[in-house]
Amino acid sequence: MDMESWKFLRSVCILSFLLGSCFVYQSLRVVHAQEDGKPAVTLQVNASNGAGRLIPETLFGIFFEEINHAGAGGLWAELVSNRGFEAGGQNTPSNIWPWSIVGDQSSIYVATDRSSSFERNKIALRMDVLCDSNGCPSGGVGVYNPGYWGMNIEEGKKYKVAFYVRSTGDIDVYVSLTSSNGSLTLASEKITASASDVSKWTKKEVLLEAKGTDHGARLQLTTTKKGSIWIDQVSAVPLDTYKGHGFRNDLFQMMVDLKPRFIRFPGGCFVEGEWLSNAFRWKETVGPWEERPGHFGDVWKYWTDDGLGHFEFFQLAEDIGAAPIWVFNNGISHNDEVETASIMPFVQEALDGIEFARGDANSTWGSVRAAMGRKEPFELKYVAVGNEDCGKTYYRGNYIVFYDAIKKTYPDIKIISNCDGSSRPLDHPADFYDYHIYTSASNLFSMYHQFDRTSRNGPKAFVSEYAVTGKDAGTGSLLASLAEAAFLIGLEKNSDIVEMASYAPLFVNTNDRRWNPDAIVFNSSHLYGTPSYWVQRFFAESSGATLLHSTLKGNSSSLVASAISWKNNGTDYIRIKAVNFGASSVNMKVLIDGIDPNVMKVSGSKKTTLTSSNVMDENSFTQPEKVVPHESLLEMAEEDLTVVLPPHSFSSFDLLKESAKIRMPVSDSSSYHQKTTTVG
Ligand code: AHR
Repeated sequence: MDMESWKFLRSVCILSFLLGSCFVYQSLRVVHAQEDGKPAVTLQVNASNGAGRLIPETLFGIFFEEINHAGAGGLWAELVSNRGFEAGGQNTPSNIWPWSIVGDQSSIYVATDRSSSFERNKIALRMDVLCDSNGCPSGGVGVYNPGYWGMNIEEGKKYKVAFYVRSTGDIDVYVSLTSSNGSLTLASEKITASASDVSKWTKKEVLLEAKGTDHGARLQLTTTKKGSIWIDQVSAVPLDTYKGHGFRNDLFQMMVDLKPRFIRFPGGCFVEGEWLSNAFRWKETVGPWEERPGHFGDVWKYWTDDGLGHFEFFQLAEDIGAAPIWVFNNGISHNDEVETASIMPFVQEALDGIEFARGDANSTWGSVRAAMGRKEPFELKYVAVGNEDCGKTYYRGNYIVFYDAIKKTYPDIKIISNCDGSSRPLDHPADFYDYHIYTSASNLFSMYHQFDRTSRNGPKAFVSEYAVTGKDAGTGSLLASLAEAAFLIGLEKNSDIVEMASYAPLFVNTNDRRWNPDAIVFNSSHLYGTPSYWVQRFFAESSGATLLHSTLKGNSSSLVASAISWKNNGTDYIRIKAVNFGASSVNMKVLIDGIDPNVMKVSGSKKTTLTSSNVMDENSFTQPEKVVPHESLLEMAEEDLTVVLPPHSFSSFDLLKESAKIRMPVSDSSSYHQKTTTVG
């Protein structure tokens, strides 16, 4: 700085000081500290050929549980809730929630009876229309379904509506998509049929094209014809779902962007049930959708029609390109257990479930899959025996029967025990043990070292559920995500024994939060990722990459860092990731050994940072991008990789390795650009 500038600066500073603040001086001081080339810490990375260790191909995946309406009213695009009127119970009279009537008691009377043609779900709706074209309100009377807190109907899009109907007379029924209070019709079609046509249950289908948009729309079935009509199994699905497979596109894409290598499903506690009678039992969830009975998931306290069933989970795994990990019920719920002497029916159910997925089309259960349109088997290499019930009276006994039976028929299938083998050896055989951790931010941050001293013998770890919870997390804070980032770096470093890891829970429909926090928040039409979601995106390239040996030197108690090398389309990258859990900015010098220093050139690098002005900041529908990663180019002096880690931040630095050179990378297609408003 020359004398003139210094004098000018001094006068500005004095002036500012006199005004009570030396803001200009303080800003300069920060810039100076970043530029003075005195890093507080050094990360030494060994990038020599052959010096690293391969990270398992499967390391980072997702855990999909039917919790928070993740599936029903979420990823599964079915718009009708309680489509078969079964949710009110199998005995009549029953309530028909969330269905409601259009009209009043003088014009329509509705009741449930057990007249359905479907054996496993006998409840149907009977509507007695008391008015006719002279007396009925102009829009007719009938019933409507509001979906899951409103249906997302979008102008120009098509919706397939199907339902079963029966009557003693001729019918004309209007099938309409309307605004939330029914005042505005977005799409409508009239279905007429003669009495002889509908004297028995008949399926009717219409394709509706929306003429307007409403995120809180409803489906109506109305008529102005006097008489009795029975209705059953009503479905409304957007025509545009992922590959036509029934998955809501925007939520699906959020999963794909994580590049998950596995998907664990369908729970969690959802698999267990408070009581076995309410547990997820796969056989009740396959076959034609109309025939599925649905069930009340009593842990998360909501009804699911089970449109997203055993078949659809395997389809989902395949569509995302992730290995399916099927968790089945092992005869144990939260409150009841099947004793080992009587466990065989459950074991057979698990074997049948495996056969359903990977048996050939002529096998007993493979043929059920084939009848659903899928002749070729799905891939299935991992199963988990129950969830979080290690130590219960019959866990070990039951587990061993499951293990022996599965290994006998399918020796290649890897079996996951839910007993924690990280601190002491398991007392039963297993290929993996399941490890769950929900804790405070500071605890999880320090658990960066959790697996450092774990025995390298025995089964490998599957960290299938981890998250910061409680007040540190709120409904998804930056603070929580930073601790998780440190924990994940620890897992990466210990990936010689930790083979798989997934955050939990993945999804929450904001209208029915059963668990906080969650990675992806949505309603009928919008969504956003929490900071924890964005942290996972930093690890999308880690599975199958090479972990480089790295050492952090200096005062680093609130820092965690690592280095990997990974390939994209035949090009090599080095990615440095660093968490600054502290409240001060830190300079980190990166020394990369193993690359000829004489020919190594640093022409720039891509920096991605997740941070915010307040460590408790969260994203929301109104500010979906408050805490999201930001990419920038980082200009640095030749051969001096000194990077600034802002307070409370997670950063990655992607360096392109061209033989002996390091150059700025070309961004790959998966940018961090946040999609927040996906429809409308
Ligand atoms: O992820 C939410 C729940 O936490 C899971 O259902 C269960 O496995 C754990 O207790």
